[in-house]
Amino acid sequence: MLQIKIAPSILAGDFAAAGAMVKKLEENGADYVHCDVMDGNFVPPITFGAQMVKAIRPHTALPLDCHLMVLHPETHIADFAAAGADMISVHCEACDAVKLFREIKERGVKAAAVINPETPVEKAFPAAEEADMILLMSVHPGWGGQKFIPETLAKIEALRDYCVKIGRAELDIEVDGGITEQNVGEVVNAGANVIVAGSAVFKSADMRATIERLRRA
Ligand code: DX5
Ligand code: ZN
Repeated sequence: MLQIKIAPSILAGDFAAAGAMVKKLEENGADYVHCDVMDGNFVPPITFGAQMVKAIRPHTALPLDCHLMVLHPETHIADFAAAGADMISVHCEACDAVKLFREIKERGVKAAAVINPETPVEKAFPAAEEADMILLMSVHPGWGGQKFIPETLAKIEALRDYCVKIGRAELDIEVDGGITEQNVGEVVNAGANVIVAGSAVFKSADMRATIERLRRA
C-alpha cells in the first residue's frame, strides 16, 4: 500500500512570512513543502527562485519539493541543489528530463519529471523508468486556485498501470492543481499518492484538520 503524502504549495501562502509559513506546515502535519518556481517564460508569471528555497530551508526539516516551471531547467539545477532542494521536478515540455536526472541525482537530490495537461501521458513513460517521482499537472501551470481537469484521472491510471508493468509499482505519482477535499479521493483511487494542494490547505480555517482529511481520502 502506497503511503499518501500531502505537499502544500507555498504559492498560496504568505511570502512576507515565508519562514513561519513553512514551519506552520510542518507543525500541521504536511509531508513536503511544494515550491512552485515560475520564470515568466515557460509560464507567464514569475514567482521565486533558488534564493527563496535557501531562505526557507532553515525553517523546516520537511523535504523541499521544487517544481521548476522554467525554460532551460538545466541551468538552474546547481543553484536549487545548493539552496537545499530535496527534490527537483523538471517539465518534459522544457527539456529532456531523463538526461537531466543524472545531473540532479549526482547532487544527492531526488529527480522527477512533470507533464502538462495537454501532454499525452506516454511522454512521461521513459522518465518513469528512472525517476524518483512523476508529477502530472491537473491544471495549466502558472496559477493557483484553478479547477481540477478531470481528464487527469485517466492519465494517472494509465501511468500507474505502466509503473506496474515495468516493475515500479511503488513509484511516487504526484498530482498538482485544483485538488480539494471533494476530489482527492478520486485522485488517490486512480493511483496517485503525492497530493499537492495550495488553496485547499492555505484557505482552510483549520490547516491540520484539512491536511489530515486530504491524507485520509
Ligand atoms: C500551478 C502550480 C500548483 C498550484 C496548486 O502552476 O504548480 O502547485 O499552485 O495550487 P492549487 O491547489 O490552488 O490549485
Ligand atoms: Zn506545482
